[in-house]
Amino acid sequence: MRVFIVLGHTAALTPDFTLNDLPGSAGRLDILCRCVTAAFCLSHGIRRQINVYLVLQDRITIRLDGRYLRHLNPDERSTGALLQKALQKIQQAAPDLPDELRSTPGIFVSRRGLAQLLAQLRRQVEQIIWLHEGGRDLRSAELDQSSAFVLSDHRDFSPEEETLLGEFARLSLGPQILHADHCITVVHNELDRREP
Ligand SMILES: C[S@@+](CC[C@H](N)C(=O)[O-])C[C@H]1O[C@@H](n2cnc3c(N)ncnc32)[C@H](O)[C@@H]1O
Repeated sequence: MRVFIVLGHTAALTPDFTLNDLPGSAGRLDILCRCVTAAFCLSHGIRRQINVYLVLQDRITIRLDGRYLRHLNPDERSTGALLQKALQKIQQAAPDLPDELRSTPGIFVSRRGLAQLLAQLRRQVEQIIWLHEGGRDLRSAELDQSSAFVLSDHRDFSPEEETLLGEFARLSLGPQILHADHCITVVHNELDRREP
């Protein structure tokens, strides 16, 4: 299972935004929507063995599980609508609910932040990798197909996030700073080529 964790530092925590304005009123949710597309969408299909975690302001986590995902299209607006439904679901839940709630097929939402997520993934994947432009070259790194990759959105990693991620391998995808969704495409390509 490949896993991508995208940190949305400004993403909306409530569903009261318009799908016509994902970059503005939804707090750059457009970036997270493009990451979802890059993680799952092939030219003629969906990658199934993928989990994407969108961590919104370190307070709400939306998980998309490729094995069960339905209604995912490659446009940002319809992905934004699925994320909006997940935010509606968690808004209606008790404030101290510790568990994930199912929103739509393959989409789950919980009140969790990065620290809890990393603690869980440590038990579920072989490797956790921090994608950072200042890291060492991914091409020469040993990569397990069961890996989780952590990326930021348009903002730098916060000092708290850097502390949490400091224990994991920090890998770079090359000399240029890329958009987060493009990083996901590059990682997929590298792992696809290495798949036995
Ligand atoms: C748009 S970049 C962040 C931009 C950066 N914070 C800045 O303002 O200069 C989004 C994320 O993609 C990942 N990323 C971008 N370029 C990368 C590279 N060359 N190697 C590894 N990760 C990269 C990092 O996780 C980064 O935080």
